[in-house]
Amino acid sequence: MSLKVVVTGKIPSAGLKTLSDAGITPVAWDADQPMSRSALLEAVKGAEILITLLTEKVDSELLDAAGAQLKAVCNVAVGYNNIDVAACTTRNVRVTNTPGVLTDATADIAFALVLMVTRRLGEGERVIRSKNDWQWGMHYMLGSGIQNRQIGIVGMGAIGIATARRAKAFGMSVAYFSRSKIAEETAFELDAKQLSFDELLATSDIVSIHCPSNESTHHLIGAAQFKKMKKAAFLINTARGPIVNEQELVDALVSSDIAGAGLDVFEFEPQVNAGLLNLENVVLIPHLGSATAETRAAMATLAATNAVAVANGQIPPTPVN
Ligand code: GLV
Repeated sequence: MSLKVVVTGKIPSAGLKTLSDAGITPVAWDADQPMSRSALLEAVKGAEILITLLTEKVDSELLDAAGAQLKAVCNVAVGYNNIDVAACTTRNVRVTNTPGVLTDATADIAFALVLMVTRRLGEGERVIRSKNDWQWGMHYMLGSGIQNRQIGIVGMGAIGIATARRAKAFGMSVAYFSRSKIAEETAFELDAKQLSFDELLATSDIVSIHCPSNESTHHLIGAAQFKKMKKAAFLINTARGPIVNEQELVDALVSSDIAGAGLDVFEFEPQVNAGLLNLENVVLIPHLGSATAETRAAMATLAATNAVAVANGQIPPTPVN
């Protein structure tokens, strides 16, 4: 196939193989570091299909640089807040993402953060690594148990449901805030109750964010919401940084409006608010939600499968627009 496919970031070989099995020889970026913006704008010229990572901003400037022949942008991520979908739709450019294949990996990370922050595991590890003396003690480094507590899931899509499943297995009760109701059998399986956002904030011991990042969820959680949460509650974010006002989170942690936070994503990623770095009651990890070798291979394969479908004039398996 003589179609020009540009892979703008380094993807696992499984994705490249899916393309080559379909007779597509892509132009593929092969360095671990993202391309500079100017190199990216140059690289996309004349592309009919782009396969992009979440570090690439796909906006009007980039779409114009690619040209009117562009047919699709296939993101290797479930989140697509790096893409101006409206601008793509206006130009008849199909956008696809990679839902499903990273659900369990991301829910695992969300729950790892729940355990880490409630049981003070980051703090404990820092004690050992500091090489300072420590001693088992009846009152030493006590955390908060999670059994019989409530997890409040914000955004009950596939990842929210998978996180709720883990919480239930650990003896937690499940509440959720979501635009839509979940399937009756899932609600039954999880014994999950749907609450208003304010009710969820006021009654949950863990608030875990799983909604998409867009204009309507920008700073969904800030000072006013922290005030509504229990002082003993923890915030977990494995979705996208801008959903939380990061400075107001620091302020809430400093004033003990909430007990702690576990964060995999940051408002101005890869920058992390300096105020978070000095707090013991936060766990900070560098956007690892989907970071297993199997998951990343599956994501690349799905993105490439979407690209092949578009190349063949078919509807891709996981379209966004
Ligand atoms: C990862 O953050 C993703 O959106 O796939």
